[in-house]
Amino acid sequence: METSVLALDQGTTSTRAILFDAGLRPLATAQQELPQHFPSPGWVEHEPEDIWQGALACLRRAMAEGGAAPRSLAGIGITNQRETVVLWDRASFRPVHRAIVWQDRRTAEACAGLREAGHEALISRRTGLLADPYFSATKLAWLLDHVPGARAQAARGELAFGTVDSFLLWRLTGGRVHATDATNAARTLLFDIVKGEWDEELLRLFGIPRAILPEVRDCATEFGMTAPEILGAPVPIRGIAGDQQAATLGQACFAPGMLKSTYGTGCFALLNTGATPVFSRHRLLTTIAWQLGGQRTYALEGAIFVAGAAVQWLRDGLGLIASAAETGELARRADPAQPVYLVPAFVGLGAPWWDAEARGAIFGLTRATGRAELARAALESVAFQTRDLLDAMHADLADAAGTAGVDGALGAGETVLRVDGGMVASDWTMQFLADILGAPVDRPTVMETTALGAAWLAGLQAGLFPPPGAAGDVPRGFGATHWRLDRRFQPLMAREEAARRHAGWLEAVRRTRSTGE
Ligand code: G3P
Repeated sequence: METSVLALDQGTTSTRAILFDAGLRPLATAQQELPQHFPSPGWVEHEPEDIWQGALACLRRAMAEGGAAPRSLAGIGITNQRETVVLWDRASFRPVHRAIVWQDRRTAEACAGLREAGHEALISRRTGLLADPYFSATKLAWLLDHVPGARAQAARGELAFGTVDSFLLWRLTGGRVHATDATNAARTLLFDIVKGEWDEELLRLFGIPRAILPEVRDCATEFGMTAPEILGAPVPIRGIAGDQQAATLGQACFAPGMLKSTYGTGCFALLNTGATPVFSRHRLLTTIAWQLGGQRTYALEGAIFVAGAAVQWLRDGLGLIASAAETGELARRADPAQPVYLVPAFVGLGAPWWDAEARGAIFGLTRATGRAELARAALESVAFQTRDLLDAMHADLADAAGTAGVDGALGAGETVLRVDGGMVASDWTMQFLADILGAPVDRPTVMETTALGAAWLAGLQAGLFPPPGAAGDVPRGFGATHWRLDRRFQPLMAREEAARRHAGWLEAVRRTRSTGE
């Protein structure tokens, strides 16, 4: 009797496996840190063997702790850090190099070259993305160009490329399946998100041989069985989605107009725009939210590189706090008469600015500025950045209004932001977020929304849950059983006050940008 679902969430800094029961209640969790490698300033790498061993250990531990035999599992759902590139030898299974992580900026110059040569319009039209080192293609090209012999091996079909999901699927199936899902493919800069296929012109532009690419499938499908020795007996892998897309599912944002934001190291806000992609004119990303039954649902995405990482910096870089949990309490005690703005452009600025050369800055320091004001500035920067994303989303929706195919429900009614991730435990931060957005912020009881989304995909494929309705409505039972409100934060700040503070932030961003615009 299949009674549980196993989610594998392979993130940037850690891997976890969560065993859920058939009602999607968490039964057991296993977690392991993932070592980070910084071989040069701006470079970030992971050892693929660490990714694999960590995943395997977490899967086995979660099963053992939850008392789940392989045959009791309805399926495994994989969700993963997106864009990170792994290139491996099909015969030996060995990666030819460490994985190049999404945060890695080594291809900034190559991207600037693409923009200068006028290629960004084509890239955006096909992929919904921008010519930025964040995405996979230039990193993959870097590997092919810098690993001795890699281009020749790739041309002979001896190498396989994958984002982390694809690499894990390959290992889990004992090298029998080289595939990915549409959400991960959509982050490579090589995938036409409208046609739902690898794009020949982009493959030529980036110099990527087709022979190394995985097959692209739905998010819920039969991806293959685990090799018998991996978990003791074969278990079907039935779901794959990038972590931010999985969180959008876990937050039950099934209807167009629904919006979630995840606050981890960075922050990723996704707005469901329905069956028609809204191509951003305001420097957001257009991406595939999920693909089920061959039908794609799209999202507008705002990606911020530093959110929780600003609090980590207060703790580990400055030694101002002993634990992240102190920050909210400190912020509450900060002097309201001292506006201090921290622009955490530690690795450049993401959406909507996309300024890879910008570096962090603090404005408004006086002799009276202390720990409390800096802590408040770090937390406030997360809210201000989210406001910039939502403003860009509203502007895109206003532009798209009346466009054939764009769902009428979009942008109608009030915006509600569903939040998850480590930072949302801070009531102070969530209240300030609601104040600055001028919109309610909903925090659910289950914060493991990413794993929840992956488990839901595997359970959907196994027939445990009904599919979302044709109109994108919440599947029966999903809202009630899997998504429950912990607390709604209503905006309390006067709108003029919020506008004044946000204007101060925009001025700080202007002064931080490398272009000075
Ligand atoms: O696009 C990058 C994103 O998928 C990383 O998420 O949670 O692993 O930091 P996370």
